Amino acid sequence: MIHIRAATERDACGLPEIERSAGAVFRTWAGLEWIADDAVQSPDQHRALVAHGVALVAEVQAGEIAGFLNGELAPDALHIWQVAVRHDQQGRGIGQRLMEAVQPLALQRGVNSLTLTTFRDVPWNEPYYQRLGFRTLQEGELNQRLKGILAREAQAGLPVEQRCAMRKSL
Ligand SMILES: CC(C)(COP(=O)(O)OP(=O)(O)OC[C@H]1O[C@@H](n2cnc3c(N)ncnc32)[C@H](O)[C@@H]1OP(=O)(O)O)[C@@H](O)C(=O)NCCC(=O)NCCS
Repeated sequence: MIHIRAATERDACGLPEIERSAGAVFRTWAGLEWIADDAVQSPDQHRALVAHGVALVAEVQAGEIAGFLNGELAPDALHIWQVAVRHDQQGRGIGQRLMEAVQPLALQRGVNSLTLTTFRDVPWNEPYYQRLGFRTLQEGELNQRLKGILAREAQAGLPVEQRCAMRKSL
């Protein structure tokens, strides 16, 4: 059984560990193994998104948290900052359930699309989101907000040529 609910402040301390566990899947992808050891969102960042953004968790048996999704409202979309599912729980549809659950929240907040940035070609990133209805944006389709996010990712050391922005119309 998978139960999706709003994240609370009390969840914040446990979520970095979920993201660290989730990242282990990158050890299987040549060239991006280092992502598994990269920085994760801090408890304070989670608390801020609980308070001012959108933050969901997926619970499995007895309220145990197996994954989370968070994002923030932008003028043109609800932007998803992170979605992560504990390594031992991946491939059971939890990521998909989190992605489905955020869609009505975007509409309630008055935007009709979701955006995110992710790795091109990695099976659980760009192709996965394409299967969930996202479209990869071409350079000329990027607005200033998405260009800014990709630029900040490049400054932070992510390989810009392997990153893309995606949008799903709701
Ligand atoms: C992306 C993520 C949240 C998906 O969560 P999930 O609960 O495993 O998602 P689902 O069960 O709904 O689907 C997983 C998909 O990834 C693919 N996938 C997962 N692990 C894979 C692997 N090791 N190799 C190949 N494909 C894999 C599956 O094919 C599946 O797609 P399909 O159902 O269309 O076949 C999870 O893989 C994760 O936490 N990854 C690490 C963090 C990350 O990359 N976050 C996204 C940042 S943009």
